[in-house]
Amino acid sequence: MPKRSNAVRALKPVTTDEPHLPGTVLRTDHPMLGVLVEQSERHLVATIAIPAGTRLFRIEGYETKVPSRYSVQIGRDLHIDQRGARDATDRVRRFYWRYMNHGCEPTTRIVDREVVALRDIAPLEAVSFDYNTTEYDMAEPFQCRCGAPSCVGLVRGARHLTAARRAQIAHLLPDYLK
Ligand SMILES: C[S@@+](CC[C@H](N)C(=O)[O-])C[C@H]1O[C@@H](n2cnc3c(N)ncnc32)[C@H](O)[C@@H]1O
Ligand SMILES: [Zn+2]
Repeated sequence: MPKRSNAVRALKPVTTDEPHLPGTVLRTDHPMLGVLVEQSERHLVATIAIPAGTRLFRIEGYETKVPSRYSVQIGRDLHIDQRGARDATDRVRRFYWRYMNHGCEPTTRIVDREVVALRDIAPLEAVSFDYNTTEYDMAEPFQCRCGAPSCVGLVRGARHLTAARRAQIAHLLPDYLK
């Protein structure tokens, strides 16, 4: 296991009653990952340098046919969502995967529920994935703010990809999206 960096020693544990200032990184159960608090959003970040190819974790939750804003699609009609968190602290610690933001040039990909680093990820850099490589038709589309040169704009799921974008990410698409 890699050594924890100074960045990780500075992490504050999440509590349910204390408001978290933007910039706070909340501790998760994963030794390399934290949840960064922003003004109105949170997202998963690395807390130490993560080398390309690292298998970070397997997405664990309950399987459902009903997608949500937080679920991840894993089959033609199957999604993983989170259930049973005792409180906000427990949610961040155990279900940190639900804080993964979308990126059009993401830092990870999901292969059979395993989240794998696509490149080196620096401390405090987002642990993101391309939602269009897991979701077919998203219940809650949103305007992407990833800032990447290749940003697709509206993120709606693979069903809505242009032919050009589909060809670009074809190697990342699971069978159920082909
Ligand atoms: C699974 S949640 C990710 C965690 C979320 N940031 C939060 O604070 O709860 C998915 C939601 O995060 C937001 N989101 C994720 N990636 C985004 C991006 N690249 N640009 C804008 N919003 C994004 C969207 O509102 C989306 O519905
Ligand atoms: Zn984008």
